[in-house]
Amino acid sequence: MSDNRELSYRPAVDNAKDHRAVVDMLCELVDELSPDEDNADVKKLFETDIRTALKSTTIHIVLALLGEEPIGLSRGDILTQDPIFRLREDNRCGYVDQMFVRKAYRDRGIGGYLMRLCEDWFREQGLKHCILHAAPKAVRFYARIGYQPNREMFKKL
Ligand SMILES: CC(C)(COP(=O)(O)OP(=O)(O)OC[C@H]1O[C@@H](n2cnc3c(N)ncnc32)[C@H](O)[C@@H]1OP(=O)(O)O)[C@@H](O)C(=O)NCCC(=O)NCCS
Repeated sequence: MSDNRELSYRPAVDNAKDHRAVVDMLCELVDELSPDEDNADVKKLFETDIRTALKSTTIHIVLALLGEEPIGLSRGDILTQDPIFRLREDNRCGYVDQMFVRKAYRDRGIGGYLMRLCEDWFREQGLKHCILHAAPKAVRFYARIGYQPNREMFKKL
């Protein structure tokens, strides 16, 4: 398939267009990762969560665009007093979340580049560590770019 649109990456900004793009892609993300659950409640929460995130100086959301079309995103949060690094000299760390590339555009390095832009931003903020929780389907993707299991998360509802 030939597609002459240009691929670009930029930080999402606090406006209605970027807010919509991020929320729409996150709704696709939860439906893909939890297809058997009713995701209506979490989808509603994205509206406010992303509005807040786009105003925050400790959260960085990057968009991948093909021409004007949003096709992927990554989100980096600076965690303070996090439970893993709190006893080290630098008790802050980066946390990557909400990694998503629309299905038609996967396996061309876009997810890897979105991760790199998040890590670059953490470095600019003086952070030395980056952690994430990998969905089982994404473990191989993260392992390929250097992420190894550290401690297992156990969840009880
Ligand atoms: C995880 C995800 C973000 C990866 O995005 P992506 O754009 O496909 O990522 P990349 O293309 O950089 O890497 C994916 C694979 O393509 C391969 N690849 C990278 N560049 C490539 C290229 N130029 N040509 C062919 N393959 C390439 C990688 O080796 C990798 O292989 P893997 O299947 O062994 O992991 C995407 O699959 C996704 O959105 N998944 C659903 C949501 C999800 O699971 N998010 C993570 C939640 S923790």
